[in-house]
Order: sequence, then structure tokens, then C-alpha cells
Amino acid sequence: MATQKKKRAKKPMKPAFTVRKATLKDLPILVHQRRAMWRDLGAREQRELDRADKVYAQWARSRMKSGTLIGWVAENGEKVLGGGCVWLQPVQPRPGYNLMIQPYLLSMYTEPRSRGLGVASGVVEKALEWCRKNQFLQLRLHASEMGRKVYLKHGFERTWEMRRRIKKLREDS
Ligand SMILES: CC(C)(COP(=O)(O)OP(=O)(O)OC[C@H]1O[C@@H](n2cnc3c(N)ncnc32)[C@H](O)[C@@H]1OP(=O)(O)O)[C@@H](O)C(=O)NCCC(=O)NCCS
Repeated sequence: MATQKKKRAKKPMKPAFTVRKATLKDLPILVHQRRAMWRDLGAREQRELDRADKVYAQWARSRMKSGTLIGWVAENGEKVLGGGCVWLQPVQPRPGYNLMIQPYLLSMYTEPRSRGLGVASGVVEKALEWCRKNQFLQLRLHASEMGRKVYLKHGFERTWEMRRRIKKLREDS
């Protein structure tokens, strides 16, 4: 009797990637990710994006130098798949918390072809790990529609921040 070997359905291989801390050399990558994030959120005006790139590059460079902006890059060999940054944002003092800075996650971006593979999750995990190690009490962010599921999966919750619009920005969510 012929032995019938059951063929197991092959699981699609998820490409391995690593998430490392960004250095100043990675600034062009971080600027690209920032621009691509805004583009995906609906920013279309090339001149505005060009201007924003320059301002962000300067802003990010000085903060990376002073240690108040920490970036992570997810890569597969030479190929960059995505990234994100934590900015130590100035905040007002309040009873029981005198530090006057809070970590804020921004510029989260995954290249379209690498989405759904856990790249953003990998960056969020590194950012949370960094916050824990540095004894911060929380990590805040403003979630885009695309990002919401990623953050919910990692234990983020909605807060009671409010706003009153004075003027609506086109890409503002
Ligand atoms: C949001 C973004 C960073 C997610 O990147 P990613 O690497 O695909 O995310 P992950 O693979 O880590 O996804 C984590 C979870 O979120 C889900 N998810 C990711 N993108 C999603 C989407 N567009 N819609 C619904 N769910 C999504 C995944 O299914 C996954 O859950 P699962 O593992 O249970 O399936 C990416 O879509 C992106 O760059 N978007 C454009 C810019 C943007 O919106 N940035 C966020 C600003 S706050």
C-alpha cells in the first residue's frame, strides 16, 4: 500500500528584519519616512512637503544631537522597511510629575510593500522598551487611522485630550 504523505500547506515566510537605533547618518531616511507618512495621510502639495523636509531635518538633527529625539530603523540587510521616533516633548509641571518632558511617538512609517509584517510593531516595542528603561511613566502619540490597530495591539488607549478647531488643516485628522 502506497504511503500517502500529507502535504502540509507552507506558511508564507515573513522576511526577517531587525530594528536598530538611528544615528545622525540615518537622518535622510528619517526625513524620507516623515514625508512619506504625511503623503500617505493626504499631504499632496510638493512645495509644502519640500519645505517641511528641510524644517524637519533641522529640527530632528538638533534634537538627535541633544538626545531628545531617538529614532529606530527597521531593516532587512541593506533594505530599510520602516521606522519611527520618540521625541522628549516639553510639558507643563503637575503634582507628582516634575520632569516637564514626556516621550511622544511620531513619524511612524512602513514602506508599502513591507506592511502587515510587524515592522511598525517592532518599532513600537523598541520605543516602549526604551521608555521603560529610562523610567518614563507613559508614551503618548496621535494615531492616524492606519496606525490605530497597531497601537491598540500594544496596549495604547484613548485619552481625554480635547481640541477646538480654529482652522482646519487639510491633512489634519
Ligand atoms: C500604520 C503603519 C505604520 C503600520 O505599519 P505596519 O508595519 O504595516 O504595521 P504592523 O505590521 O506592525 O501591524 C500591526 C497590526 O496592525 C494591523 N494593521 C497594520 N496596518 C493596518 C491597516 N492599514 N489597517 C488595518 N490594520 C492594520 C496589522 O494587521 C497588525 O495586526 P495583526 O498582527 O494582528 O494582523 C503603516 O501602515 C504606515 O506606514 N501607514 C502610513 C503612515 C501612518 O499612518 N503612520 C502612522 C502615524 S500614527
